[in-house]
Amino acid sequence: MDAFQDKVAFITGAASGIGLGLARTFAAAGMRVAMADKRAEIVTAAAAALAREGARVLAVPLDVTDRAAWVAAADRVERELGNVDLLCSNAGVNFVGATHEATYEDWDFALGVNLGGAINAIHTFAPRMVARATRGRHTGGHVVITSSVSGLFTGGGAGVYTTSKYALVGLAESLRADLAPHGIGVSVLCPGPVKSQLFESTAAVRPAQLAPTGSVPVVPPGVAREHTPIFVTAPGGDEIGRQVLEGIRGNDLYILTHAEIRPMLEARAAALLASLPSGPVDQARIDAAAPLLNATLYATAHN
Ligand code: NAI
Repeated sequence: MDAFQDKVAFITGAASGIGLGLARTFAAAGMRVAMADKRAEIVTAAAAALAREGARVLAVPLDVTDRAAWVAAADRVERELGNVDLLCSNAGVNFVGATHEATYEDWDFALGVNLGGAINAIHTFAPRMVARATRGRHTGGHVVITSSVSGLFTGGGAGVYTTSKYALVGLAESLRADLAPHGIGVSVLCPGPVKSQLFESTAAVRPAQLAPTGSVPVVPPGVAREHTPIFVTAPGGDEIGRQVLEGIRGNDLYILTHAEIRPMLEARAAALLASLPSGPVDQARIDAAAPLLNATLYATAHN
């Protein structure tokens, strides 16, 4: 997708941080933007502020874990803005703690929003995008799934979040392979630290029935992430928005935002390669598994 004027974007988690940066960037590129978020008042105010600057935006109160609400939201956006060309599944929650100490409530909450929300987004919109592409009334389209550098490597200490974000990389890679024949691109956004409201919003959106039970030290509500050392040097959502726009333009599989992660990617790739069994490879096995060993996806990851 390389033309944005008058196209329609649907962004989840658009009330603040990265999602708001995406909304601002897409609106500035001439798109009509649906801004979805569970924090209804905040997303409504954010959309109103963008509209005052001349952006064509629509606030869509939506809990991404609510499947019935997804259908209603999609129908509404199609009615009021038009068919969605660009889907950004970005809503997420984050907390830290040792993996083995996480409660079922922690797992269900984070996987429900981070992974389940993306599944619901794709289940709702991808068939609609494919149907239009198949009927020839649509050329291209794009899906961006927000994972994290926590979807690419880990140092421990946030196993629930990391699990959800690794899953999103697999989801995006699979979706990219499956949507490519329809002319629809897919990117997975893996940012490093970005200034946002992630700690505060996580506390705000956590449902009572999945409340922390005390085994995981969630960051207390009211702690400003910007004041933690790692976020003092972090970029804001607008900078990420610009990087995402370029990534969509190039149909990049991975949209990486922090060059500083190179040693971690190299260390993980080296660890994987070093773990291969030694000895000769079996050509018969290679031939038998040819479809599984097709690396086209990775060969076309970056233009
Ligand atoms: P943010 O808090 O500013 O934005 C996240 C938004 O998601 C919030 O507005 C929140 O209300 C919304 N949300 C949470 N649960 C929801 C639900 N069930 N339904 C609908 N909306 C819901 O935080 P940020 O950082 O902009 O987060 C956006 C995405 O970026 C998340 O997926 C996060 O995991 C990811 N990310 C953030 C990084 C950072 O350092 N800020 C780094 C890497 C990834």
